[in-house]
Amino acid sequence: MKIGIVGVGTVGRSVVEILQENKEIISARAGVEITPVIGVARDIESKKDLDILLTTSIDELLDSDIDVVVELMGGVEKPYEIVTKALERGKSVVTANKALLAYHRYELQTKAGELGFGFEASVAGGIPIIKSLREGLSANHIESIVGIMNGTCNFILTKMMSEGAEFAPTLKEAQELGYAEADPTFDIGGFDAAHKLLILASIAYGIDAKPEDILIEGIESITSDDISFAKEFGYSIKLLTIAKKVGDKVELRVHPALIKNEKMIAKVDGVMNAVSVYGDKVGETMYYGPGAGGNATASAVVADLIDIARNGKNAQTSPMLGFTKPLEKNLSLANKGDVETKYYIRMNVKDETGVLATVAKILGDKDISIETFLQSPHTKKDNITTILLSTHSCQEVKVMEAFDEIEQLSISQGRPSMIRIE
Ligand SMILES: NC(=O)c1ccc[n+]([C@@H]2O[C@H](COP(=O)([O-])OP(=O)(O)OC[C@H]3O[C@@H](n4cnc5c(N)ncnc54)[C@H](OP(=O)(O)O)[C@@H]3O)[C@@H](O)[C@H]2O)c1
Repeated sequence: MKIGIVGVGTVGRSVVEILQENKEIISARAGVEITPVIGVARDIESKKDLDILLTTSIDELLDSDIDVVVELMGGVEKPYEIVTKALERGKSVVTANKALLAYHRYELQTKAGELGFGFEASVAGGIPIIKSLREGLSANHIESIVGIMNGTCNFILTKMMSEGAEFAPTLKEAQELGYAEADPTFDIGGFDAAHKLLILASIAYGIDAKPEDILIEGIESITSDDISFAKEFGYSIKLLTIAKKVGDKVELRVHPALIKNEKMIAKVDGVMNAVSVYGDKVGETMYYGPGAGGNATASAVVADLIDIARNGKNAQTSPMLGFTKPLEKNLSLANKGDVETKYYIRMNVKDETGVLATVAKILGDKDISIETFLQSPHTKKDNITTILLSTHSCQEVKVMEAFDEIEQLSISQGRPSMIRIE
């Protein structure tokens, strides 16, 4: 089986190397040899050490005698165009591109038809979560998926927790170590994790949502006060991707969350990824591993190639997004504000007597009861103090209404902020 790689960068290079270095075991497993024959990049001079034909022309690759196009260039519309052309020419496709799938997975499923379309590497890199969810857990109603699916955020939050450091210097350190991009917005803003969540939500629930339809919050506003509160009350702070079935609705959200330290997912540190899937029959299953990196991601890409090689020309043996026909009783996406959980709240106020009573009354009037309270251990200037508290379970809309009122108080120094407690 001959393959062409559009984008011989970090992952593309590893795909070529794995196919060459593990050639014997791969062909024994696939039943045929899988040979990378052509690769596309903008700068091909720097890739001359690779033992494949290199070109800057995507058309040359598409016109060549290859069976599978592996898309590893990134982006949304350009790869969509390339992958569409490949499918129209009867070539199977493998991609690691979550952004492409976050926007175009349903059109691509239709276009692929019987052709192979592998995208295991698009969610949690080297962890075979797509296959686990689509094949291994297909007997179950999926009650929830909770994941740590962005290594950059997890690295930063782990460092902030262990060192009590602030966000900005920790991000800078992550950039220096190569764990964060020069423009980190996509990772730290939660968008990368959201793209992955949308892919899993399709397979688990048949939900066709776009990034703009779901709640996405990043980790930029986490402070050392939040870290102090988490430590005091036995929590970790993680950027979580959450899909939760509530009746006939599904909540899809990405945001930082406080999780009790004894939970398994709270122990996932550094750049590692983990996904916990709760099925109604199987109970909780958990997957842990490297969510990024050339070799780890290429491991999943090559596994998809092996599947395609095993299955022949009409390679798509299971439906790409997990459903052969629509559910009779469709699940729909919950509204962004319909979350009900416990909250941790931080607010800066003037350090005056009666402040806490005033705040507690506003919360109480909205049926929000306080569970724990802490005064910030960090010194503030100009008679300003920071109140840190957590609530019992309540509706998010009520929390927002309470914030509107607190913000208007003369003692208040801006709008309070919150982190959900999972
Ligand atoms: N890196 C990871 O750990 C990881 C993990 C999971 C998923 N992914 C996904 O895998 C994909 C590739 O990621 P990567 O980290 O390998 O990216 P990368 O290192 O930036 O590689 C991208 C490659 O595509 C080429 N390219 C980009 N635009 C092009 C164009 N217009 N024409 C021709 N070639 C073009 C680049 O050429 P030049 O080299 O000449 O610039 C480069 O070789 C992305 O969709 C990413 O989200 C990556």
